[in-house]
Amino acid sequence: MKRVITYGTYDILHYGHINLLRRAKELGDYLLVALSSDEFNKGKHKTSLLNYENRKAVVESIRYVDMVIPEENWEQKIEDIKKYNIDIFVMGDDWEGKFDFLKEYCEVIYLPRTPDISTTQIKNDINEKK
Ligand code: CTP
Repeated sequence: MKRVITYGTYDILHYGHINLLRRAKELGDYLLVALSSDEFNKGKHKTSLLNYENRKAVVESIRYVDMVIPEENWEQKIEDIKKYNIDIFVMGDDWEGKFDFLKEYCEVIYLPRTPDISTTQIKNDINEKK
């Protein structure tokens, strides 16, 4: 059984997110999503429209997702990989190269982002229409 993990905020879900999660799941048998906590986002000077509990309820109802855990700091990845027996770490290629240090612990794969859609873009579009 191959276990895959990916990290993200997943605020205002869109098909770029779904594409990423579908391809991540196809790489293995079990997909964990480490979802940024509201406190972690604050530390990155990012605010999500939807809070953690809201985002968690949405992400864990996606058919490709088997488990959601909180992402609370930058340092937890190695610990998560060991704790959950992860075989593959996946991120969108906006993070290309950034997590190569994890190759010591598991396979690291960057998947191409879906073009022309992002949460930031959706927020900007809504603001422009106001
Ligand atoms: N992602 C993707 N294609 C997109 C948007 C996101 O593959 N068009 C991927 C990211 O690379 C990441 C995951 O989805 O692995 C979660 O991304 P997140 O940052 O939560 O979503 P974005 O839409 O990129 O949000 P933002 O605009 O706030 O950065």
